[in-house]
Amino acid sequence: MLGIIGGTGLTQLANLEITHRKVARTPYGEPSGALTFGRICDREVIFLARHGYGHTIPPHAVNYRANLWALREHGVDRVVSVATVGGIHPELLPGTLVVPDQVIDYTHSRESTYFVGNDKPVVHLDFTFPYCRAMREALLQAATRSGIRLRDGGVYGAVQGPRLETAAEINRIERDGADMVGMTGMPEAYLARELELCYAAVGAVVNYAAGRGASSNGIQMEEIQSVLGEVMRQVRHLLEQLVTDEAAACAAP
Ligand code: HPA
Repeated sequence: MLGIIGGTGLTQLANLEITHRKVARTPYGEPSGALTFGRICDREVIFLARHGYGHTIPPHAVNYRANLWALREHGVDRVVSVATVGGIHPELLPGTLVVPDQVIDYTHSRESTYFVGNDKPVVHLDFTFPYCRAMREALLQAATRSGIRLRDGGVYGAVQGPRLETAAEINRIERDGADMVGMTGMPEAYLARELELCYAAVGAVVNYAAGRGASSNGIQMEEIQSVLGEVMRQVRHLLEQLVTDEAAACAAP
């Protein structure tokens, strides 16, 4: 089953026919909110709002382990994670959607593995390619089918937040090779790998990163808000197409 983790601007899915909600408990504590079970085009999906349904949980305080554990415990094997990002690459203008293919992790002090505790073995998993190829492909195909522009590839710089970056930090992060910057991409992607979930992310660019373009003199929150509505409308459309494609593939003889 497909799991959808929604970030800022996507605390609910208008096209999801909700069947029920469930408060899940996990060995790692509580997820960000109740799991929302529902159907898109007759296919069952589970939705979870990463920051809580009232958008009250900041990126560094999200219980990423509980979120992914709860999804898997309820039958999810594929995850699309939606997150807003600031654009660093000149082509990643506000309003752009992108499927990153790489990550640089600048986060710290977050619970970033399930393998902790004296009874747990030390585990080092391959993370050369942090996102699931099949899910990235499915997203790109859904975008083509529905006429949505979705950029293929880019390096996601995962920062700690909750503050935004300085212009000098963005210069450094760009020199490191990142094309976009966001606060929630890690450890989520790695924890999904530990749980063997097929996980990919959709980055919704909502602002120029600090010191760039229209953010040369500072990031204007009103501008983020003005982009957010339209870009999330596109994300909903993309997800609907993704689920419809899956249903069609299932129905095909
Ligand atoms: N920086 C970090 N995270 C973000 C940004 C940004 O500019 N925009 C949206 N999420």
